[in-house]
Amino acid sequence: MERGMMKRQYRDVVVWDAERTAAERCDVITEGDRITSILPAGTLDSGCAYEGRGKMALIPGFVNAHGHAAMTLLRGLGEELPLMEWLQERIWPVENGLDGDLVKAGTKLAILEMLSTGTTCFADMYFFMDRVAEAALECGMRCGLSRGIVGDSDGSKLKENLKLADDFNGRDGLINVQLGPHAPYTVPMELMKEIANTAKDTGLGVQLHWLETSSEWSISGLEGKMTPEDYLAETGMIDVPNLLLAHCVWIRPQESAFYARDNVTFAHNPKSNLKLGSGIAPLPAYLKAGVRVALGTDGAASNNRLDIWDELRFAALTQKGVNKDPTLVASAEALRMATVNGAIGLGFRDVGLIKEGYRADMILIDLDQPHYVGWDCENLSGFLVYAGSSSDVKGTVVAGKMLYQDGDFVFADRKRITEEAAEARRKLTAR
Ligand code: NI
Repeated sequence: MERGMMKRQYRDVVVWDAERTAAERCDVITEGDRITSILPAGTLDSGCAYEGRGKMALIPGFVNAHGHAAMTLLRGLGEELPLMEWLQERIWPVENGLDGDLVKAGTKLAILEMLSTGTTCFADMYFFMDRVAEAALECGMRCGLSRGIVGDSDGSKLKENLKLADDFNGRDGLINVQLGPHAPYTVPMELMKEIANTAKDTGLGVQLHWLETSSEWSISGLEGKMTPEDYLAETGMIDVPNLLLAHCVWIRPQESAFYARDNVTFAHNPKSNLKLGSGIAPLPAYLKAGVRVALGTDGAASNNRLDIWDELRFAALTQKGVNKDPTLVASAEALRMATVNGAIGLGFRDVGLIKEGYRADMILIDLDQPHYVGWDCENLSGFLVYAGSSSDVKGTVVAGKMLYQDGDFVFADRKRITEEAAEARRKLTAR
């Protein structure tokens, strides 16, 4: 242990993660940003540790595997319009007025919301990403960042994305940078090939919107020429070091096996897909084929919450209902999607489990409440997903630091951040 490295102890907490079949009462020690010991409950002396009393769950923090954080400033704009009208008339004109300061203000607002609902790591694809990185570092939040690349005839956006990687990849152990080609209908195929090659040369991952709407493939101009899977093979995207495909609503279920690869993760966004009328992803087919699926909220303008707890419940319940099969998408599977699967998708191979050597990204959930009566170590995942909610989060720990505790943001000024965001919103929508 390095001198001065912060050590924290959690006594008699109820530990669950996706590698356990049942929860277990344990003591947990973190040193610096890592989990260093997991001991039988009650081993540690009382008084010098956070006391769980066997009534506080400690699970991995949620990973929000797809989003556009600063869209918190656009929440509520153009509600319930058709997708293209919403984008073209309400969202894009406002986004044209964004600058670095506004994006940073909106991102900090998003980070407050995510921390208070149990998210410890978020994916972001947007603009002014150096300011997003600053916001994350100032708050101590983990993230996977990509510069959204649209068009890019002069190559300046790809350059900007690479500069983001030079400046921020690996910073404070918190940031992984990905390349961010927006979608096959906004990025020419030659550029998509170039980005795939760049990813292979640099070892960077890629975030890509993929088959979000039923019309996406015809809009891309590729319909009738090649299948989406041929496109991923032809551009080389399927072979990049780490490919995070957002949405995946319209993949043909019979093609699921193509995506069951160690370097590929889907970011499933059930609430955004419902709200924008994009459809319902054939999630059971993906899971059956062995595809790694994570959960995301998408931007606050199309959700409208950045609360993974909602995604857990929508992912698990929607499939049961539409397929008339209550055995689909079990609660433990949904929690796996929301934790370790998202971490892997963003290139963090030591995040998302409560395990010695893993990063100490975790949340504390108060089980001493009326709606948890009857929980036990075997049924905990079901209680969390079907009865729990983000209001049960009592602590959010990122890289060993408790950033949110009992309603307060320990290292962030809630009042200032919300006031700055409100002012940013006024500026942005007044233009
Ligand atoms: Ni998106």
